[in-house]
Amino acid sequence: MNILEAKNLGVYFGSFKAVDDVSVAFEKGRLTSIIGPNGAGKTTFFNLLTGFHPPTSGSVLFKGQDITQLPIHAKVELGLTRTFQVLNVFDQLTVKENLRIAVQRLRGHPWRLLAHEDGFSSVEEEVDRLLVAVHLQDFRHTRADEMSHGHRRHLEIGLSLGVDPEVLLLDEPMSGLGMYETGQMSDFIQELAQRLTVVLVEHHMSVVMKISQRILVLQNGRLIADGVPADIQQNAAVREAYLGKSYGAGDNSKETVNA
Ligand SMILES: Nc1ncnc2c1ncn2[C@@H]1O[C@H](COP(=O)(O)OP(=O)(O)OP(=O)(O)O)[C@@H](O)[C@H]1O
Ligand SMILES: [Mg+2]
Repeated sequence: MNILEAKNLGVYFGSFKAVDDVSVAFEKGRLTSIIGPNGAGKTTFFNLLTGFHPPTSGSVLFKGQDITQLPIHAKVELGLTRTFQVLNVFDQLTVKENLRIAVQRLRGHPWRLLAHEDGFSSVEEEVDRLLVAVHLQDFRHTRADEMSHGHRRHLEIGLSLGVDPEVLLLDEPMSGLGMYETGQMSDFIQELAQRLTVVLVEHHMSVVMKISQRILVLQNGRLIADGVPADIQQNAAVREAYLGKSYGAGDNSKETVNA
């Protein structure tokens, strides 16, 4: 079943076409990655899917329903959410406080913000569940700005999980992470993909090739390839456009081609 679908999706910024007539359907439960050079339109494509930017043409379907015109929050309520390329957490708040905001947002009780835990056990239970899900139990009372970048990225994903999504779009969750943290994030994303439909934008080729079930390649706003990792690695147009001559099927030494 296709849970999310873009039909002839496109957007102009002035006379520049950042996303150009992209049609793609995402199957429920599948981990799909989107790769492509800087400026290819990956983030813009996420913006169009999630409603952060209105498309100039085309439509977005969620479970077969046309959601193109729905506001962001309505899409989130349906189960479509995303993270941002630039880290997006509340620095001054603890991990628990961050997660509590995410949970309360969904429940529509912002006035309960940071209220004492007593009496709101169901919210607290949900927060505890998220703490475990993002592997931050040991940091529950740590302020976000006192954590490593990797843990902050986990927290950010936790904020998205607070709205109980079915489809999670991750925009470069590994950017700025060291090798060890990248490995942890890769494991974490695979874990998420067991129960959610994940669409991953990422420049870490070795991770993308390892964990993706399907890879889409964008160049100049156009979808130039769509296939399983082995096919994408062998695709001449993709290698030319993005991977570079040094990247081959057996070469996983390059952590990122974005350097
Ligand atoms: N709001 C906007 N107004 C004008 N141009 C924009 C806007 N947003 C993006 N662009 C342009 O659209 C193109 C695609 O940008 P986008 O951020 O989607 O690329 P990307 O594939 O996510 O790149 P990166 O890998 O560097 O994150 C770029 O040329 C960018 O400058
Ligand atoms: Mg981007």
